[in-house]
Amino acid sequence: MWHLGHTLLGKVGCLGGVCGACTVMARPSDQALPKTALACQTMVSEGMEISFLPSDASKKALALLPEAAPSRDTLFQYYPETRRCVACQACSSICPQEIDVMAGVRDVLMGDLPAVAERFDSCVMCGLCAAVCESTVRPHRVGLYARRLHGAFYPQTPSHLLDRIDEISAGRYQAEWSDLMEASSSDKGNV
Ligand code: SF4
Ligand code: SF4
Ligand code: FES
Repeated sequence: MWHLGHTLLGKVGCLGGVCGACTVMARPSDQALPKTALACQTMVSEGMEISFLPSDASKKALALLPEAAPSRDTLFQYYPETRRCVACQACSSICPQEIDVMAGVRDVLMGDLPAVAERFDSCVMCGLCAAVCESTVRPHRVGLYARRLHGAFYPQTPSHLLDRIDEISAGRYQAEWSDLMEASSSDKGNV
């Protein structure tokens, strides 16, 4: 749309697939049914039909971190409507990240915080799951709160990060770094 000269005031965010602002329904000409997608991560093709979807209208609760270890009641305190889930699966069907959202809601109901945190790890907070929920559940918001609780109360050692730091300290990337530093400024974009 930008390349065609349209000025877009809404539905544009990070352009990197992480903010969830650019949700669309897209139907390539060779497919019968449309699918939700993030516009910034979708390649346009000849004859593709695209319609924009509304922004997230769900409210975020002012959810504090508890003093003691959290339980599912901690989640219900701020997102009580989660109990009303009727397992219709609409939220899972619409998620552009293909998260099994309903299973995440079920994990909330079971009080399995680590499972909820893991399940919503790739959530981009587009809010479509809440928009389609007849029971007014806000799966993404309760999922994000569970991720916060999990990080605060059950921190895990970031082993991949620590391994990478060790590799850097041991000089594994020194040759590439030297190449980069020696490159002229016009070359740096290509390194
Ligand atoms: S759309 Fe709502 S009621 Fe249906 S499964 Fe998802 S959270 Fe439950
Ligand atoms: S879980 Fe909900 S808010 Fe997160 S990406 Fe999927 S539809 Fe969007
Ligand atoms: S603009 Fe942020 S995900 Fe597309």
